[in-house]
Amino acid sequence: MNTILALKNVDVGIEEKERLLTINLSINHGDKIALIGKSGSGKSTLIKVANGTLTPSKGEVLFKGTDITKLNRTQRSQIATLWQDLRLIDEISVGQNINTGALGRHSLFWSISNLVGLIEIQKCIACLEASQLSTKFINKRVSTLSSGQRRRVAIARLLRQESELVLADEPLADLDPNLSEIILNVLLKKRTSFEIKVADTCIISIHQPNLIKHFNRVVGIKEGRIIMDCACSNITSKHLNRLYD
Ligand SMILES: Nc1ncnc2c1ncn2[C@@H]1O[C@H](COP(=O)(O)OP(=O)(O)OP(=O)(O)O)[C@@H](O)[C@H]1O
Ligand SMILES: [Mg+2]
Repeated sequence: MNTILALKNVDVGIEEKERLLTINLSINHGDKIALIGKSGSGKSTLIKVANGTLTPSKGEVLFKGTDITKLNRTQRSQIATLWQDLRLIDEISVGQNINTGALGRHSLFWSISNLVGLIEIQKCIACLEASQLSTKFINKRVSTLSSGQRRRVAIARLLRQESELVLADEPLADLDPNLSEIILNVLLKKRTSFEIKVADTCIISIHQPNLIKHFNRVVGIKEGRIIMDCACSNITSKHLNRLYD
């Protein structure tokens, strides 16, 4: 198996409270993983550890065999994250926010040019279209958008990164059922009618167990521990009851 990301014996604890305990998870090339669990179970914590922004109190995280804390800028740009709290920049436009997804591949001059005015408009438009947002939003301030529209701007920024691995924390929150299905198909690379490279490998946290059939693997987390890691075809209601009770 071609492992892209590996979490080995990872603990995350603050004082006596454990947020993650003995997490062992190998994400292989082509995996489409649904990350599920109750609110507060540790999904966002796991995603922050997996992208290297939260340092475990024990254990290690390897991206293609390299310690995640030792990645260079190019390697780091191969991991794209959709944060649960989005982390958009209110002071710049939708298009400029989307372009920040590509900062890791460009120079400081490119970054400054993007702050002065929107650049590489065609790429932004492709990401907007993939995220089901009209191009009329491109020059709007993100602070003027609805929650679901803001989430789709963050999804467009994630796609703009054209990374190898996607870590998406609740990308479908605030979206109606129709949009949820379309966006999920984009992230799972089942809908590819736009000019942007989508990652082959992803881990996506969701609160809708009815959607796990679209993935090939399901990881269930409860009170900071992985209690389920299997093909979605093997999931039964007994599994789900154990996870959510
Ligand atoms: N910054 C923090 N400091 C201390 N504890 C935290 C912090 N962030 C989260 N926690 C705790 O860690 C546990 C896991 O939180 P996490 O945000 O990972 O859950 P989650 O599964 O993503 O929940 P949700 O579905 O509500 O987003 C919770 O008990 C939470 O209270
Ligand atoms: Mg969360």
